[in-house]
Amino acid sequence: MRQNIAIGVLATCLTLASATLRTSQNESTITVANDRLTAVFATNKGRIVDLSLDNQDLLGPQSGDTGTGPYLDCYCIPSGFYTPGSTSPTMEVVEGTDATGTKYAGVIMNETYPPTGQQFQQYWFLRDGETGLHTFSRLAYYNETTPFLRNLQEFRTLFRPNTDLWTHLTSSEVQTAPLPSKEAISKEIVVQDATWTFSNTPDDAILSQMVSAVIPSSSTSHMADNSEDWRDNSVHGMYADGTTSDGTTYGAWLVMNTKDTYYGGPLHSDLTVDGIVYNYLVSNHHGEGTPNITYGFDRTFGPQYYHFNGGKGSRSTLEELRSDAETYANPSWNVKFYDSIAKHVVGYAPSSVRGTVQGHIKLPKVATRPIAVLTVDGQYFQDNSVDPSSYQYWAEVDKNGKFNIDHVKEGKYRLTVYADGVFGDYERDGVRVQAGKTTKVQETWVEESAGTEVWRLGTPDKSSGEFRRGVAPDETHPLHPPQYLIYWAAYDWQEDFPNGVNYTIGSSDPATDFNTVQWSVFGPTPNNPGVEYDTTHNWTINFNLNKKQLQKRKKATLTIQLAGAKTASGNTDVWNPAEEYNNLSLESYINGQEEPLSMVIGFNQSSSCIVRSAVSCYQVRSRMEFPADWLVVGNNVLTLHLPYNATDTETAILPGTVYVQYDALRLEVS
Ligand SMILES: *[C@@H]1O[C@H](CO)[C@@H](O)[C@H](O)[C@H]1NC(C)=O
Ligand SMILES: *[C@@H]1O[C@H](CO)[C@@H](O)[C@H](O)[C@H]1NC(C)=O
Ligand SMILES: *[C@@H]1O[C@H](CO)[C@@H](O)[C@H](O)[C@H]1NC(C)=O
Ligand SMILES: *[C@@H]1O[C@H](CO)[C@@H](O)[C@H](O)[C@H]1NC(C)=O
Ligand SMILES: *[C@@H]1O[C@H](CO)[C@@H](O)[C@H](O)[C@H]1NC(C)=O
Ligand SMILES: *[C@@H]1O[C@H](CO)[C@@H](O)[C@H](O)[C@H]1NC(C)=O
Ligand SMILES: *[C@@H]1O[C@H](CO)[C@@H](O)[C@H](O)[C@H]1NC(C)=O
Ligand SMILES: *[C@@H]1O[C@H](CO)[C@@H](O)[C@H](O)[C@H]1NC(C)=O
Ligand SMILES: *[C@@H]1O[C@H](CO)[C@@H](O)[C@H](O)[C@H]1NC(C)=O
Repeated sequence: MRQNIAIGVLATCLTLASATLRTSQNESTITVANDRLTAVFATNKGRIVDLSLDNQDLLGPQSGDTGTGPYLDCYCIPSGFYTPGSTSPTMEVVEGTDATGTKYAGVIMNETYPPTGQQFQQYWFLRDGETGLHTFSRLAYYNETTPFLRNLQEFRTLFRPNTDLWTHLTSSEVQTAPLPSKEAISKEIVVQDATWTFSNTPDDAILSQMVSAVIPSSSTSHMADNSEDWRDNSVHGMYADGTTSDGTTYGAWLVMNTKDTYYGGPLHSDLTVDGIVYNYLVSNHHGEGTPNITYGFDRTFGPQYYHFNGGKGSRSTLEELRSDAETYANPSWNVKFYDSIAKHVVGYAPSSVRGTVQGHIKLPKVATRPIAVLTVDGQYFQDNSVDPSSYQYWAEVDKNGKFNIDHVKEGKYRLTVYADGVFGDYERDGVRVQAGKTTKVQETWVEESAGTEVWRLGTPDKSSGEFRRGVAPDETHPLHPPQYLIYWAAYDWQEDFPNGVNYTIGSSDPATDFNTVQWSVFGPTPNNPGVEYDTTHNWTINFNLNKKQLQKRKKATLTIQLAGAKTASGNTDVWNPAEEYNNLSLESYINGQEEPLSMVIGFNQSSSCIVRSAVSCYQVRSRMEFPADWLVVGNNVLTLHLPYNATDTETAILPGTVYVQYDALRLEVS
């Protein structure tokens, strides 16, 4: 009753233009609402504990961390996991009218973690006329006595319902599936880190439609294929098809309207949705780099937008609600609003400090799907977390070689352009962006060359998906997910390649005769206790050369591009002196030459890729020269060799073997 009165008083204070946005609070809760969406925050927990759209409860009852959110958590204190707001948060309410005349209210959670002095803020904003929450998250560290704390291994927000309202999850068209039932979840068997089999409940919808025996959380929730990484992902979430409500359908979405405060560039891929709708701001999954938390670290991530739609008797389909959410996935959306709230959000860069880049690049003829990327100056684009304050942008390059990037924070950037079909990247440092100005860049990209190309294997597209068990659809399930999404151990190496890989350039088929991953050793798997050592670590490539091709040739160059590789450093990129394969050597033997060409994959280039259902992770490449007289007229043999039985000690439930995932290879002579 008291709250109703408070709302009444507040409402009459609002301007006439809009009388719906309201806030109220007592000792234990803060409520922020407009005419459709209501969010209730627990002030001693620093998070949302109730959320409703048109009076439909979207979260369900709170039980521990479930039934709450969006809320912030991290792997960032000395011991690891922490939920900011769980110790002693302060919660502040701000209200105002933005430059468009629209009312907004915000809640700011602020907490200092006592043992380290790490400062956390989580921001949520609701506007009139919208059914979503704009979120920002900040971590700052100014502790002089311990200038190096640790890495920021994970930083994420979660919408984590505890209700059977939600029936489907979707992170892209190929990754849309029913959620496993409560029964299936209660009978699941862990087969790998965050990977379960639902074989105890074979009739469950997710099983029959999506996968065979196993559904890794990674398989429904990692954005892994080339077309589903951060480059293309802008919306993911959950859908309620009405069967568990009164027939009304609902959607809960994370809209990545801005991507400039993530790290890792357009190839970055991560968990998106598995019953929780995530916003992974930082993580080391798939070999992603993570920033260190050192004195002066101060980073504000966002905005992103948790959007809720449907409701009010909606019968909209998943696709319709998803399309609605997608309309907000644009950095130009709501710029005036964000400028207006910048005064409340520490570290947010308003449009007054941003400029535009207009580019034109002459591309190699064979380039398809070209993309232009702006990341921190002087660093490979996947390594931009080495500068924790760096921002990143990208745009598709059109068929005339033009691209345009707006809302770029002022500063100096590296421009990287890459494209399918082209070996190597185009890179240029020193692109300067000034506030309120347009920077024009005019470039010519000549594809790298070491003479005449004799052959290539695979498509240089930063993915190993074109090979066997990659993007080819799984025909045995109605939703035809790409095979790599299912689970690496669903495929038996011994069955697929009983005699190993013996590939002949010109006659073999990359889709069947070359595998998406080369293991040092395969097995045991949950399905097969056998271990295969001998057919896995040496792959053979046969190629014919004629006299003309070798005439007057002095130098040959073998280029190997990897779309991912796991060394003994796994996901963590930590050098562990107890491990033999921190740095992993991939050796290429040409025609039985005793000395191989060695490509060393550094410990800090390691990614956990295929075992987390990905075919595109941290990219590693090498161009290795050798004397052309190692080559012969007639049949030549290249052996790709990984060390025999090379494993590490895995602390998570993951296979110990090291492995590489080829993007593409080629041989040139000059
Ligand atoms: C504060 O408000 C919440 C939400 O309306 C209500 O459930 C709770 O009982 C109130 N607490 C107090 C101490 O008034
Ligand atoms: C958070 O709280 C600390 C300690 O009370 C204060 O110094 C700081 O200014 C607050 N930060 C924000 C963003 O409100
Ligand atoms: C800084 O870190 C040290 C531990 O290394 C801790 O004892 C100290 O309380 C921290 N300082 C602040 C201001 O939080
Ligand atoms: C983080 O710190 C570790 C330990 O000092 C160092 O090895 C690593 O290179 C640093 N990483 C980055 C991204 O700066
Ligand atoms: C590869 O296959 C060819 C025949 O296609 C055969 O001559 C050769 O011995 C095989 N190599 C290996 C390593 O199995
Ligand atoms: C794999 O290749 C290496 C290097 O040529 C060789 O020493 C080893 O015997 C080969 N292993 C098998 C099983 O053929
Ligand atoms: C391991 O790899 C790193 C990164 O590539 C390199 O700097 C280092 O020299 C290598 N160490 C050894 C012992 O080969
Ligand atoms: C890997 O480590 C080497 C030296 O140990 C360093 O030069 C290089 O920049 C690091 N690369 C990444 C991606 O962190
Ligand atoms: C392979 O390596 C593992 C772990 O080091 C070891 O236990 C096993 O005996 C090795 N197997 C063979 C055949 O060398």
